[in-house]
Amino acid sequence: MSTGPTVYLETFGCQMNELDSELVRGHLRSLGYRFVEDFTTADIVLYNTCSVREQAENKAYSRLGLVGMRKKAGEQVILGVLGCMAERDGADMLRRFPQVDLLCGPGELDRLPALIDNVRRAEGAAREERMALAGSKSRRSTTLAAAEDHLELLDLSRAFDPSGPDAQRRSAYVRITRGCNKFCTYCVVPNTRGAEVHRPPDSIIDECKRLVDAGVVEITLLGQTVNHYRYSHGLAVDADGREQPQVGPGLAAFRAPIPVGQKVTTFAHLLARIHEEVPALQRLRFVTSYPRDFGDDILDVMAACPRICRYIHAPAQSGSNRILKAMNRGYTREEYLEFIDRVVAKLPDCTIAGDIIVGFPTETDAEFEETVSLLRAVPFKNNFIFKYSPRPGTVAIDRFEDDIPDEVKRLRNNLLLDIQTEVSRTVHASWVGRTVPVLVEEIRDHDAARARDDASPDSALSLVSAHPSSKNVEIRWNRRQATSRHGLQAIGRTPGDLIVAINLPPDAPSSQNAQALVGTVVGVELTAAAPLLMQGKMV
Ligand code: 5AD
Ligand code: SF4
Repeated sequence: MSTGPTVYLETFGCQMNELDSELVRGHLRSLGYRFVEDFTTADIVLYNTCSVREQAENKAYSRLGLVGMRKKAGEQVILGVLGCMAERDGADMLRRFPQVDLLCGPGELDRLPALIDNVRRAEGAAREERMALAGSKSRRSTTLAAAEDHLELLDLSRAFDPSGPDAQRRSAYVRITRGCNKFCTYCVVPNTRGAEVHRPPDSIIDECKRLVDAGVVEITLLGQTVNHYRYSHGLAVDADGREQPQVGPGLAAFRAPIPVGQKVTTFAHLLARIHEEVPALQRLRFVTSYPRDFGDDILDVMAACPRICRYIHAPAQSGSNRILKAMNRGYTREEYLEFIDRVVAKLPDCTIAGDIIVGFPTETDAEFEETVSLLRAVPFKNNFIFKYSPRPGTVAIDRFEDDIPDEVKRLRNNLLLDIQTEVSRTVHASWVGRTVPVLVEEIRDHDAARARDDASPDSALSLVSAHPSSKNVEIRWNRRQATSRHGLQAIGRTPGDLIVAINLPPDAPSSQNAQALVGTVVGVELTAAAPLLMQGKMV
């Protein structure tokens, strides 16, 4: 067994960060590092941070304080900040948090082992030896620069060890695009993750094949605006003729025909290729969709390919045209609704999810009402609702005063949550009576949980629901509901991302045997619905 240094790695924020952390873990493991679950015993503590919303940042800052206390107590520990907060704060973070030893931006994670080495070898290593940030490079402008993109190596280096610690995993992320070119005024992503860079389709398909060979059942393709994937062939090749990642085209490319003689892989082509060339893949998903430029070509491929999940997460953000303009979202309410109409017409059983920001600067009551009416007009399975928070480095923080009082934001937030609950209830109810395939993710032993609960009365039962924009969302049952449950329950998801709880019959195998269901797809008749949860029985 390896005796290398121990590492604790915690991830904040989005699925892109989760994937980055997985790649970092694989990379460090291959170099002899061992991962541990407890930050108080680790030689190296790494936080992969998110700066999309203030809340995630505050959590990360408080973790830095905890590691600072270990250091003050004289312990030898290396503290590294990875991800978007590192990229955005740069040297300023080292000044404000002297306990931080190294910083590594999301586009430079391949350089992390070198940074750790620098810190381990030389106490007081120079600042530049402890920081890997894209800085001004982050908005790369040429295909050549993208061809020199070492981060691609990290994606390509993904470990596929069937005996490795991740071997049990049945669901995996595959990045198709990094960065974002949209510049929504509230959003830090274009600054922290840089310009849109698209990976060559052959690399993506190869990665999908290798994941499936390693036992993966479900793949989620990741991109900030995943439907804007576009790869023009023949423009970025290395000396051996291998295609390289490529900076994305401007928005105009999506509204004009593909130039004659130019071979292009669009998002629709990519989906169709993966579906055809990776036939053993049971479920193919993608997030996050940008409501503009989601063409019928994509919907047609979804309709034709049964293993592509009929689920679209396409954040509307607001129902008011003036606010959408101030957000620089690039579409109107009418265009959003037209897109949804097309989805419903072509894929009647497609589920739709979204995100909304309330309290964007200058949002009036009447404009908020337009968001209310949008929520009522679209059959959203769920919506994640966020209070606007001004983010350093964004256009909005310079351009607008954060003039909506927190109290008003809170009221609007709660009102939308109530309305979304009604809408979710209707959408979930419409599925009752249907039989659907469910990918089992977890087995719950309610009797064991109740025993634990009785021992510690404060603990609430929770069911975790992954979501593209906020890593984990917990649906909490209160104690009374929880204690009314008995026996074993399998928890899983439909292709449309509905969460299903399946009561296993009383003569079901023991909890240990039931674990064998995890990672398999079972047929389930949906028998009842709550706003965010379906009940079902195995058929
Ligand atoms: N304030 C509030 N919510 C935000 N989001 C992104 N930036 C902000 C911000 N500054 C939300 C958007 C996005 C999701 C990932 O986070 O709704 O879709
Ligand atoms: Fe941010 Fe807008 Fe890009 Fe999404 S599309 S990552 S909200 S800039």
